[in-house]
Amino acid sequence: MSLKVAVVGSGPAGFYTADALLKSEDPPVEVDVIDRLPTPWGLVRLGVAPDHENIKAVSRAFEKTAARPGFRFFGNVEVGSTVSHAELLAIYDAVVYTVGAQTDRRLGIPGEDLPGSWPATAFVAWYNGHPDFQDLDFDLDTERVVVIGNGNVAIDCARMLALTAGELAPTDTVDPAADAIASSPLREIIMLGRRGPVQAAFTPPELKELGELQDAEPVVDPHDLDLDAASKEALELDRDRARRNYELLQEYAAREPARKARRIVLRFLVSPVAILGEERVEAVEIVRNELVVENGRIVARPTGETKTIPCGLVLRSVGYQGVPLPGVPFDESRGVIPNTGGRVDGAERTYAAGWIKRGPSGVIGTNKKDATETVDLLLDDARTGRLSVEATESLETVLGRKGVHYVEYAGWQAIDAAERAAGEPRGRPRVKLVAWEELLRAGRPI
Ligand SMILES: Cc1cc2nc3c(=O)[nH]c(=O)nc-3n(C[C@H](O)[C@H](O)[C@H](O)COP(=O)(O)OP(=O)(O)OC[C@H]3O[C@@H](n4cnc5c(N)ncnc54)[C@H](O)[C@@H]3O)c2cc1C
Ligand SMILES: NC(=O)c1ccc[n+]([C@@H]2O[C@H](COP(=O)([O-])OP(=O)(O)OC[C@H]3O[C@@H](n4cnc5c(N)ncnc54)[C@H](OP(=O)(O)O)[C@@H]3O)[C@@H](O)[C@H]2O)c1
Repeated sequence: MSLKVAVVGSGPAGFYTADALLKSEDPPVEVDVIDRLPTPWGLVRLGVAPDHENIKAVSRAFEKTAARPGFRFFGNVEVGSTVSHAELLAIYDAVVYTVGAQTDRRLGIPGEDLPGSWPATAFVAWYNGHPDFQDLDFDLDTERVVVIGNGNVAIDCARMLALTAGELAPTDTVDPAADAIASSPLREIIMLGRRGPVQAAFTPPELKELGELQDAEPVVDPHDLDLDAASKEALELDRDRARRNYELLQEYAAREPARKARRIVLRFLVSPVAILGEERVEAVEIVRNELVVENGRIVARPTGETKTIPCGLVLRSVGYQGVPLPGVPFDESRGVIPNTGGRVDGAERTYAAGWIKRGPSGVIGTNKKDATETVDLLLDDARTGRLSVEATESLETVLGRKGVHYVEYAGWQAIDAAERAAGEPRGRPRVKLVAWEELLRAGRPI
C-alpha cells in the first residue's frame, strides 16, 4: 500500500517535497499538494519579479513533478479554514507544511501604518497579480519613493519602479501596475541600508541589473563606500558576494550622471526612525548609523544625527514573516513552525519544509536540499512504522461535504492555457487572471 502524504503549499518547497516523495519506491508514495490559491508555484508566480521570466521558468521542472503518477493538486483549499490540520491527519499518513512566509516583518517605528507606507510584500503581490492584492491603491503620483531595506526584494521593488513602458511590455506585470509605473512622474527611488555596503544582503547579479536599465541609473555617494576597520577586514576575507557588490558600487560611484529619467540612489548606514505625514506619507526621518562589532557580528548603532527625506511613498522591505496555522505548533519569535530537521516538534506525523521551516531566506534552489532533508526523515519514519492511519475518508469526500469547489491540476492547466493565449497577441508570456471569480471559473472542471 502506498503512503499517503498531504503537502500544504505549492511553492518551490512544496514541489521539491512532492518530487522527492514521488521518487520513493520503499515505500511508494501518493502526494496531494494543497494550496489556498487556485494556482500553484507560490512565490515563483507571485513573488519573483515579472521581468525575470527566465527564473519563473523553473515552473517547468514543477510541471514534470505534477506529471508523475500519484500526484494530485487541490487549489482553493486553505488549511486552517477550509480544512483543519486534524482533518488532514485523519486522511493522510503524514502532513508536510510548505506554506512559506505569508506576511511582512514590522519596523516598529512611528508612522509605519500611514497611508502610502506599504510592506514590499503587498507591492510585490500587486504587480504580480496576486488575487488578494488587486484592490490596493498604490499611488505612484510622486517624484520620490523610499525603499527601506537592502535585500534582493528591495532591489526588485526599486528596479520594477524604474522600468519603462518598453521594458514592462514583454513581462507579465499586471496592467494597472505596469501603467502606474510607466506613467508615474517618479524621478528618484532611494534605497536605505541600515548597515554598510559590505553587509548588504542583495546579490551581485541583481545589483548589476540596476546599471543596465533603459531609462534609470544607479547613484552611489563615494563617501558611503569609506569602510570602517571591521568591514575592511570582512571584505578582504570575502571572495564572492560582498567583494563583487563592493566593486559594482565603486563603479556606480565613479560613473558620470547619464541624466536618465529615474535615479536609484543606494544609501548606506541609515535607518528610518519615523515615517512622517499628516494624512499620508510626506517624508521619512532617518538617523545616521555607525557600525560596531557585537558578539562577533557587525551591527548598526544610531549616531543621533538625523535627517528628513521628503517622499510620497514608502516600501518597507525588511523581510517576510511566517504566520501561525491553527492547531500546528508555531515559534512566534522566529516566525517558523518549530522543527528538528523538518520533523515538527511536539506534533505527530507532521513535517515542514521551505521558508516556514527555516525562515524567509534563500533562493528557489535552497528549498530543494531543505525539502530533501525533510523527506528523508519522513520516509525513515514510514519505514520504522511510525506513520500509519486508518483513513476512513478522502480529501475529495471531505471537501464535497463542505461544498468546496477545489481546483484540480487540470483546472490549473486550463487557467495557464487561458493566460498564455491572452498573452500571445501582446508578445507577453501570459496575461494573468487576477480576480478570484475569474480564476475559479477558468479552473472549473469542463
Ligand atoms: C519578492 C520575492 C522575489 C524572489 N525572487 C527570487 C528570484 O528571483 N530567484 C530565486 O531563486 N528566489 C527568489 N525568491 C525566493 C523564493 O521565492 C523562495 O525561496 C521560495 O519561494 C520559498 O518557497 P516556499 O515554498 O517555502 O514558499 P512560497 O513560495 O511562499 O509558497 C508557499 C505556498 O503556500 C501556500 N499557502 C500558504 N498558506 C496556506 C494555507 N494555510 N493553506 C494552503 N496553502 C497555503 C501559498 O499560497 C503558497 O503557494 C524571491 C522571494 C521573494 C519574496
Ligand atoms: N533575484 C533573486 O535571486 C531574489 C530576489 C528576491 C528575493 N530573493 C531571496 O529571497 C530572500 C528574502 O529576501 P528579502 O530581501 O526579503 O530579505 P533579506 O535578504 O533578509 O534582506 C532584508 C533586508 O532588510 C534589512 N532590515 C531588516 N530589518 C531592518 C530594520 N529594522 N531596519 C532597516 N533594515 C532592516 C536587512 O538588513 P540587515 O542585514 O542589517 O539585517 C536586509 O538588508 C533572500 O534570501 C533573497 O536573496 C532572491
